[in-house]
Amino acid sequence: MQLDENEDSEFVKFWNTVLEPKFTRFRHILEGGLSRYSSNILPTLGIKGGMSVLDVGCGWGDMAIDISKIVVPKGLVVGIDCVEEFLSVARRDAKKMEIDNVFFLQGDAEKSLPEREFDYVVARFGTMFFTNPVAALRNIRFALKPGGQFTHIVWRNRSDCPAVEEARNIALKYLPYSSKEGENCGPGPFSMANQDITTAMMKSAGFTNISFERMDEKIMVGSDVEEAIEFALSIGPAGEIIREANEHCSKEKRTKIKNEMRSYFGTAEHDTKGIWMPMSAWVISSTNPGFENAS
Ligand SMILES: C[S@@+](CC[C@H](N)C(=O)[O-])C[C@H]1O[C@@H](n2cnc3c(N)ncnc32)[C@H](O)[C@@H]1O
Repeated sequence: MQLDENEDSEFVKFWNTVLEPKFTRFRHILEGGLSRYSSNILPTLGIKGGMSVLDVGCGWGDMAIDISKIVVPKGLVVGIDCVEEFLSVARRDAKKMEIDNVFFLQGDAEKSLPEREFDYVVARFGTMFFTNPVAALRNIRFALKPGGQFTHIVWRNRSDCPAVEEARNIALKYLPYSSKEGENCGPGPFSMANQDITTAMMKSAGFTNISFERMDEKIMVGSDVEEAIEFALSIGPAGEIIREANEHCSKEKRTKIKNEMRSYFGTAEHDTKGIWMPMSAWVISSTNPGFENAS
């Protein structure tokens, strides 16, 4: 089911063509890492049996599936994402688990969402890519019933996410930062790191009771050093620099970048599962006060 008949935005096309294969390749790293942030907080959010919940930018749907087990039997969960490939995986997993109160729909949250249907909206690292975040956040508020709650998890400062920061610094030693010209995923993973700016955006979208809680977790960045390098070269700020440098990223430069990353990840904490690095996120909670003064 497609929620909007209009043509996909350039960012939605980019997610579907360029990023989807990269994310799918590293699903075993991404899903396990990102779920560490939600598994801690899901039981504390006040999501209860019988509620209707929307998961925005649900990806492979593991969090939506987890929530469906909380709201069962009378509640339901809808996961929305702009990438059909991720949603096929989500539908397949839900079916395998015989879960029938979770539904996965393709849509662009920036354009439209179902209105006034949900008691709770959640998003795990799914709100940082909007080109017009206030419009998208407003769509999210309008998806809620009056008094409904919205909690999203977004990355904090890049400087508190050393694997990302260092990989980016290494890439920038050899390649220019040219984000204005290249295609990209939208504003990017750290676009909601600044508490003041994000608060202002959420207030403009009409949310109240906005609160931020810092959450730090170590996540696996690769099962070994070579995979950590490939992951950094593919996804996130370093991956974007390399992708956009395109023909300017000669074989020699790529080798030098990989060698520096090898030294860096070689000294990182590791166990039998892989390489672990600290990451830092905000858990941002808020309320939809209603629609009386909405324009
Ligand atoms: C970093 S991934 C997080 C996925 C998932 N929430 C998780 O934690 O595993 C960001 C997700 O947002 C989706 N996304 C990006 N922009 C979107 C938009 N405008 N509307 C709907 N989904 C979007 C992407 O397709 C992707 O699945």
